Formats: sequence, structure tokens, C-alpha cells
Amino acid sequence: MNFTFVGGDSARAKADVLVLPVFDTELHDKKKQTAAITSADKKLKGLLLKSAEQEGFKGKNEQLLTLHTHGKLGAARVVLVGLGSRAKFTPEVLRLAMGRAVKATNRLRAKSVVVAVPVLGELQTAVRAMVEGFELGAYRFDRWRTTNKEEKNAPRAEKVGLVLPEGVKKDRALDAAVALGRKISEATNWARDLVNEPAGALTPTALAEAAKKMAGETGLTIEVLGRKDIEKLKMGMFLGVTQGSVEEPKLIHLTWSPEDAEHQKRAPLALVGKAITFDSGGLSLKTADGMVDMKTDMAGSAAVLGAMRVIAELKPPFPVHAYMGACENMPSGTAYRPGDVLVSRLGKTVEITNTDAEGRLVLGDVLAWANEQKPAMIVDLATLTGACMIALGNYIVGAFGEDDQAMWSVLEAGRTAGEELWRMPVTDLQRDALKSDIADMKNAGERWGGAINAALFLKEFVGETPWVHLDIAGPSQSPKDRGYHSRGATGVGVRTLVELTRRRAAELENTAADDGDKTVVAKAPAAAKKPQR
Ligand code: BES
Ligand code: MN
Ligand code: ZN
Repeated sequence: MNFTFVGGDSARAKADVLVLPVFDTELHDKKKQTAAITSADKKLKGLLLKSAEQEGFKGKNEQLLTLHTHGKLGAARVVLVGLGSRAKFTPEVLRLAMGRAVKATNRLRAKSVVVAVPVLGELQTAVRAMVEGFELGAYRFDRWRTTNKEEKNAPRAEKVGLVLPEGVKKDRALDAAVALGRKISEATNWARDLVNEPAGALTPTALAEAAKKMAGETGLTIEVLGRKDIEKLKMGMFLGVTQGSVEEPKLIHLTWSPEDAEHQKRAPLALVGKAITFDSGGLSLKTADGMVDMKTDMAGSAAVLGAMRVIAELKPPFPVHAYMGACENMPSGTAYRPGDVLVSRLGKTVEITNTDAEGRLVLGDVLAWANEQKPAMIVDLATLTGACMIALGNYIVGAFGEDDQAMWSVLEAGRTAGEELWRMPVTDLQRDALKSDIADMKNAGERWGGAINAALFLKEFVGETPWVHLDIAGPSQSPKDRGYHSRGATGVGVRTLVELTRRRAAELENTAADDGDKTVVAKAPAAAKKPQR
């Protein structure tokens, strides 16, 4: 999609469709009405507001109204999109609304769209959210569809004109907001593609190839290790999980390294993603229903890859490392068995009580490896437990970790990026759940508090490093079309990780004067500003 800024009256702008976002209290209030609405209504001789009234369109969130303009406006059609109440407004509301809008304009087969940028707090923030809403909302995964070619080749939004509020001139900051919004949403859509791709096609090898291609394009350094190397690294838990599959496991390590020698010395940010390309459960086999969506079990690594793609362009003044242990979890004559004891890279031994608790095993070894680089902070993303889905549903990421500052910076990044995160406890009260009769611990505990037990298991492998674990089992998939989401993969996590990196970069730049501190972690501000969760 190509975005440009347009000046003047949006009602005159030439396009297939004009999109007008509206707040619910402001549609019929002449004083509060946006200039765009007033002008469009005037040109339509009052029919815009009259039709809205008759159709019950009040500007409520999720409401949408399409009208033909019969040549009275520059655009052939006008689409009113409800934003709900101004008091409840967040950039995410706008992002979702633009997602709905572009779905509507694509249904109308519109190639060129103009949209009035609403007057809101910070214009750059609104513009970026709008660009993201458009790009994410236009996403479709149809590369495997051979029927319905007409739908596949139908005209879609190509040119989007953003009409700036009266008196506002486009500047470099606005151009940068568009560029950032595009980068982030394109990376998110790529992550969605990786997750939506069937597991038969997206094998560990294919995932590694996709990572290599991206690294080649962006200039990131990449290292892909195979079974022999993983054996040398003594990743006994990783090897246990992969041993039932004929697909070769791949250990993927991507690095962003800043140019400045001083910046290179800073403690890195480490991102770790769960990369089980298919989770059958292994010998502790899942049910038929439970297995259907298990190509999604590499969504953590897709988010990390998507974020790295943006980070390569953001060029933060500190190193960022990404680690993924990619393999399948399959039942077979060579599969690891319930009752087996695996020896981890750290030397800790694990009794397998359920081969379906495989993610924590691979992650444990990979986290330990990541920790050897002495990162300032580790963030892992994993479709780890059904229990987290039970607790938080399909839309909220569970955030686990004991380091308040690291947790705070991740929660704030999520809030800014428009992704919902909720802090969950990592309590020692549950520790007995992982006690084994014969080994140092077992991999699966009781059902109760299952998401916490998984986090407690991971905690054994990160030492003292500030660490945040994000359980994305629920939000990695959207059960329905919603705003800019469509049914299927969401790419959740990309935006939060990018924002976390941006915040850390900004903080380091602010403290650049009193440099020398090589292990700066995102600092929590004054207690008063701390979020309650
Ligand atoms: N990949 C699953 C978790 C999952 C479930 C992700 C649903 C997305 C949607 C994970 O490997 C798993 O099977 N976890 C088990 C752990 C249990 C055996 C301790 C679970 O949650 O049931
Ligand atoms: Mn599993
Ligand atoms: Zn899994």
C-alpha cells in the first residue's frame, strides 16, 4: 500500500472511497462535528447525517456505514467508521477502526482510498496507528487457495491518502510515522504468514531458511545450527523433544550488532521464541481437535523474527540477539517417552511426565544458551500452555517474571503498542508441582496453575538475568475477524518487542551523557506512574 498526505477538504479529494472516522457524541453535534463531516454533509445536502440517523449509525465502536455519493463528493462512496466515545479513545481504537474500514473498502473493490485523520492528542501516533490498521486489516492468507480466483484477484486498496486536519502541514515526523507503521505492520503480516503456513510446508528447515532470507535482506547476522551442533551444545532437552521427528532440528541465532564500538559493548537484549513447527503432543498424544491448530506452536519465533526484521532498520544503539530452537514434537518409534530422564545443557535433569509439555524443554536449553551472552534482559514468547488460555482467553498475553523493572518496561511497551498484556504471578507456592521422585524436576506438574508451573520451569534456566516470559497461546490466533485481525494468526508480540526496543534505545540516548553504565535496563519511572498491574 502506498500512503501519501493530502491537504485541503477531504470531501473534494478524488478517490474511490472516502473514509470518515467519527466519535459517537460528535456526529450530530454541529459544534463538535469534524470539519470533514460538516463539509461532506453539506455537499450531500444533508443526506449524510440523515442517512446515518435513519440507518441507526451513531458512531459507536464497530459501527460502519457505506453511502454512495452520486458524484457530489470527490469520492464515489463514503464510509463512516465509528470510534465510540472520545473518553475511551486509544490509538488501538483507531487501529481497529481502520482495519474495519479497509475490509469494507476492499469489499467495495476500491483501489484508492482517502481518509480524514482525526484531530487527536499526538498526530504522529494517530497516523502510525492508522497506517498499521490499514496494512494489518488488508491482510489475507490465500496462497493455498486455487478456487475463487475472482476474489483473489479482485481490486484492493493500493493508494491511501491521509487527509491532514486543517492548518496542519506534513513534516518529517509524519513521514517517519508512516514509514514506521508500514515497517511494523509488514513485519507483523510476515509473522502471520509464517504462522498460517501449514506445518508440512513450514518445517524447522523452512523456518531457518525464512530467517536466513530475512537476515540477508536486512543485514542481520545469522547462525543456523543443526543436530550435530545441538548435540555438541549438550542441549539434552531440545534433543529429547526432536528425536521423534524425521525433520532435522534447527537452532537459529540472529544478531543485530550496532556499528559504534562502544555501543557493541553494551549488554544485549535477548529475545527467545518458541519454535515448535508442529506439536502433536508426542507419545502423550493430543486429541484430534487439540492438534488441528498446532502449526501455531511456532508463533513465538514468528513474533521474534518479525520484530528482528524491524529492529534491523531501527538500528538501536545496543546489540539484540534472537534465539529459536526449531523442531517438531512427534510420536514415533524413536520419540522420547514418558518416564525418560533428559539432561539439560545446564546439567539439571528432568523426568518427563508428559511429552506434550515440550515447549518448556526446548526453551529451557535455548534460554540457558541465550543467558551465556550475559544479556541485560531476556524476553521469551511462547505458545506455552492451554492453561494460560483458560485464564486470560484469546486476546490477552500472560506476562510472567519477577524482575519488576523488566516487567514494567514490557507492560508499558505493550500498552503503547496496543497489545494487551496482563501480569501473572511466578509464585514459589507452586514449586512442589515440579518435584520429581527420581530427577531434579519433572516437566509437567498438576493441572492447577498450569501456566505458572510452566513459568517456574523456565525460571530454572535464566539464572539471575532480568527475564519476562510471555505466554501467547491464546492471542497467537484470532478466533474471528475483528478490527484489523482476521481469523487465524495475529502476529502478536511483534509490536510489543519493537516498542520495547525503541523505548530502550530512547532511554540509552537520554542517559548517553552519563554513559559508562553498560548494563542499563529500562528504568521504571517514579512509583506514582507505575501501572497497577
Ligand atoms: N503448544 C501447547 C500449548 C497450546 C495449547 C498452545 C493451545 C496453543 C493453543 C503446549 O505445548 C502444550 O501442549 N501444553 C500442555 C502442557 C501440559 C501437558 C502440562 C497444555 O497446556 O495442555
Ligand atoms: Mn505440547
Ligand atoms: Zn507446544
